[in-house]
Amino acid sequence: MSVPGSAGYAEEADTLSRLYESVPFARAKAHLLPYLPRAPASVLDIGAGTGRDAAGLAALGHQVTAVEPTAELRRRAMALHPDPGIAWLDDSLPDLASLPPDASFDTILATAVWMHLDAAERARGMPRVTALLRHGGVLARTLRHGPIPPGRHMFQVTAEETVALAEAAGLACLHPCLHRAEAKDGLLRAEVTWDRLIFRKGAALAACAGEAQNPPSQT
Ligand SMILES: C[S@@+](CC[C@H](N)C(=O)[O-])C[C@H]1O[C@@H](n2cnc3c(N)ncnc32)[C@H](O)[C@@H]1O
Repeated sequence: MSVPGSAGYAEEADTLSRLYESVPFARAKAHLLPYLPRAPASVLDIGAGTGRDAAGLAALGHQVTAVEPTAELRRRAMALHPDPGIAWLDDSLPDLASLPPDASFDTILATAVWMHLDAAERARGMPRVTALLRHGGVLARTLRHGPIPPGRHMFQVTAEETVALAEAAGLACLHPCLHRAEAKDGLLRAEVTWDRLIFRKGAALAACAGEAQNPPSQT
């Protein structure tokens, strides 16, 4: 399913596959690992790309639903990671319309994808994603900052806006609260930095500082 946010990905699918797969899951998602539930849990990976993270999560014993609208990436992902623990869907934010009405997940990843939505889509997508998360579940987002690559449909999205939308939808920010992470780019692009945000549904806002300093071990 071609959506505005997937612009440019099909044309670069081979190069991007090599790039994404060159970073191991455990390194790419090191900040998220302490917040994952005990396996087996149900995980939704939105904008799953080449399936590196879906495969890493499945290898930990989780049941993963991987949503990817770019057919060229989805096909490569299924070939690279033919894991029966991953169910692939051709779908997209903000509506994720193909998920069953009763779908719910313990953990949701929307990493390196939220900045492909415009303001109206972000406002619609946040409550939709939150509704898919079980009470106490964790949502991980990363926001890219830096020059927008030619041909991409991408917006500069702030952590502050994302946290405000999330809190309005009933999520509490656990990591790193309102502070910009300025995390180095995993693909070593000097001009690109990332905000890494982790939210929990239904958590008291007061939990923010404590959980950020002492992330929970597997619960
Ligand atoms: C930069 S890649 C991120 C891949 C992976 N999630 C990661 O963290 O490395 C962005 C992915 O989001 C997908 N995408 C773009 N717009 C989307 C939308 N509206 N809904 C879901 N996925 C989208 C693209 O096709 C692409 O695979």
